Amino acid sequence: MSANRPAAVVVLAAGEGTRMKSATPKVLHEISGRSLVGHVVAASRELDPEHLVVVVGHAREQVAAHLGEIDAEVRTAVQEQQKGTGHAVRMGLEQLGSSGIDGTVVVVCGDTPLLTGDTLARLARTHAADGNACTVLTAEVPDSTGYGRIVRDRDSGAVTAIVEHKDATDAQRAIREINSGVFAFDGRLLADALGKVRTDNSQGEEYLTDVLGILREAGHRVGAAVAADHREILGINNRVQLAEARRLLNVRLLERAMLGGVTVVDPASTFIDVTVTFDQDAVVHPGTQLLGTTHLGEGCEVGPNSRLADTVVGAGARVDNTVAERAEVGEGATVGPYTYLRPGTRLGPKAKAGAYVEMKNAVVGEGTKVPHLSYVGDATIGEYTNIGAASVFVNYDGESKHHTTIGSHCRTGSDNMFVAPVTVGDGAYTAAGSVITKDVPPGSLAVARGQQRNIEGWVARKRPGSAAAQAASAVTEQADGES
Ligand code: UD1
Ligand code: CA
Repeated sequence: MSANRPAAVVVLAAGEGTRMKSATPKVLHEISGRSLVGHVVAASRELDPEHLVVVVGHAREQVAAHLGEIDAEVRTAVQEQQKGTGHAVRMGLEQLGSSGIDGTVVVVCGDTPLLTGDTLARLARTHAADGNACTVLTAEVPDSTGYGRIVRDRDSGAVTAIVEHKDATDAQRAIREINSGVFAFDGRLLADALGKVRTDNSQGEEYLTDVLGILREAGHRVGAAVAADHREILGINNRVQLAEARRLLNVRLLERAMLGGVTVVDPASTFIDVTVTFDQDAVVHPGTQLLGTTHLGEGCEVGPNSRLADTVVGAGARVDNTVAERAEVGEGATVGPYTYLRPGTRLGPKAKAGAYVEMKNAVVGEGTKVPHLSYVGDATIGEYTNIGAASVFVNYDGESKHHTTIGSHCRTGSDNMFVAPVTVGDGAYTAAGSVITKDVPPGSLAVARGQQRNIEGWVARKRPGSAAAQAASAVTEQADGES
């Protein structure tokens, strides 16, 4: 256990986020595969706090349900009315006991998804090393409009107060060092100081930032840690900021992947979720989205223009212009272009799902090929089998789904319908254009189509004088001349 392990992290997420103009609560909007509050909870978890409390208010059932899904250990505290950040922290602390809690309490906002666990850990270390009652994470920003300004003593440089934009003088508004909204506190002193916070400010709210002055006046040490990169503390208030945060986070994730040995041909058109993993020498081509728990194996190539969700791509596989969800692509397999792999598709090593092929709940053995224009649904196919072009696994009778089993080393003809439930044995062949409704024994040839009948001279009789008739008679006369 780390010496800097906080007793609690309190995440503030009660606000409505009106400027998002959305039916979805602000903190539930997603970037890179996680909700905004999900990112904050994940970064907070890196501190390994004893307690993690999220203060909810607006749409609290929805937010609390989401939190329960992403992190079973999170506790929620309810702030009925949004009476300010100080009031919100007070509600959070009440979850942990009425007189606060021994040890360090870290406070973060639920709408700062770019904040890293590293930065939080650095704040906690500074807080402990300097023996502070309160340490605020600050940042120098190009435009400090709207933020609380950090007021420092002219001589000592010590932080003396945080003044909210709306309450600031012109001279204070010129300050570019701002309050990120992230703090480390001594738990007992915080609870005590929150009881003294007043509401005589321009917003009539209990400001958390006032705790700083209260602690200082009582003779306690107040300090600051300056964030290395101000973009990390970007708070999301509208969808322009949401897009900017997504872009910045995506760049961070792609850089990490590239430094780990992944080739990303065009970072600007490649989007990955935080949960995506890679092996060395994977290559991602332009226009590709990798989502959820997708994993790219060593030396595989994905894209261009592909969207893979919760899909595992084996080493050396090639996936081109493909949409895949909950699928597995074996080592050295090839997929695409224009291929749709739906949940439950498992392609074995060196298997192929070629152009305009859709698969669902299909297990395809090693070296088996489905090269062209086919639908394979609810099927098991053995090894080294070839499925002819334009085949359909007819899995649905209008009421329920049925399974088709095809053995190993089979050669099925083009334009086959496998009407499930049906089985084709190992080494069997089927004729082109067959509708397979009965099981085919191993090693047999199944022919299931109408017999061909040629009615000679039909065109000359029924379409006299037509181009077809002339073409036919030219061939007939030539043949007569030769004989
Ligand atoms: C706050 C800080 C400001 C800082 C800025 C950083 C105060 C008084 N001001 O301002 O110094 O520069 O963050 O982004 O602390 N919340 C609640 N309950 C409330 C009020 C807010 O849970 O009653 C939550 C919000 O959901 C949000 C966070 O606290 O996640 C910050 O609230 P917000 O209103 O966005 O604060 P700012 O005005 O931006
Ligand atoms: Ca506010």
